[in-house]
Amino acid sequence: MLIKNLPTSHINENEVTPERIFKSRRRFLNMSAATIGGAAISGIAGGLLTALPSSARAKAMAARKWPHGTDEALTQFEDATSYNNFYEFGTSKEGPRFNAENFVTSPWTVEILGQAKNTGTFDVWDLIKKDQLQERIYRHRCVEGWSMVIPWVGIQLAEIIKRMEPEANAKYVAFQTLHDSERMPGQKRSVLQWPYVEGLRLDEAMNPLTMLAVGMYGQELPSQNGAPIRLVVPWKYGFKGIKSIVKIEFSSTQPPTSWNISAPNEYGFYSNVNPNVSHPRWSQAKERRIGEFLRRKTLMFNGYADEVANMYSDMDLEKFF
Ligand code: MTE
Repeated sequence: MLIKNLPTSHINENEVTPERIFKSRRRFLNMSAATIGGAAISGIAGGLLTALPSSARAKAMAARKWPHGTDEALTQFEDATSYNNFYEFGTSKEGPRFNAENFVTSPWTVEILGQAKNTGTFDVWDLIKKDQLQERIYRHRCVEGWSMVIPWVGIQLAEIIKRMEPEANAKYVAFQTLHDSERMPGQKRSVLQWPYVEGLRLDEAMNPLTMLAVGMYGQELPSQNGAPIRLVVPWKYGFKGIKSIVKIEFSSTQPPTSWNISAPNEYGFYSNVNPNVSHPRWSQAKERRIGEFLRRKTLMFNGYADEVANMYSDMDLEKFF
């Protein structure tokens, strides 16, 4: 993410292409999309793990394939796990992979509180039953103007919400990341107000596309991608996808969100992907798909308009950005 008041020597993240990603684009040009998608998955499942970084040597996860995912070429696993935004482990794209390497995510509990009947503190693997996992291939669009295609593994958030039985006055769901600067050293710097917090309207949280992910590319989430549990909301900018969640709260009022607190004129509560509403400092009309040379057009609601546009039909999307 981009912070406004950086030194003048700072180059915007959306202007930089790391060398390794530049090289991986050339690899992409030499391979067909199908080969890439297949290689990423079979590489994990097929015993090639020794060739992957240590963070990639995680437990495999069985999941039923969801039939409605995009058939666009998957982003290479290596790119998705080494080009990250996770400020708790540093503000560079490359840092989280190394800085989160020893982050301990087991045991892990999630506290569910607020206006619901069945609140409590749950072990993550009691909350997310491993035999209910689905793999869903979603587009992932960052507000900075880059995008990826990721095979997430997880469950619909709606399933958990239903189990919690929210009360009638619960209109929003708030999420919170772990707050522990010993385990998340980036929290020693006040680049954001900690802990990282996010929120959704209850109907957005209940939308069938909204997921709690515990894995990607057929294995448990690497720490730099938000282990052990993160939110995935594919029609919104990536920063809504809060990582390493420890708290979920049902509330009657709109919860605060980290990037909105940091720069309210730049990042709204809704943050729906919208090529027609520019960020104050750059256009959102196009995006750089990691692994491709030419920028491609950004789709309204990141291509998920059929599934989500009805939730915003009476709203001015310039005002509620
Ligand atoms: N969650 C926490 N706790 N801290 C963060 O810094 N960054 C967000 C989001 N979730 C972030 C976070 C941003 S800006 C993006 S684009 C996505 O995570 C990036 O997810 P990825 O690294 O898996 O691609």
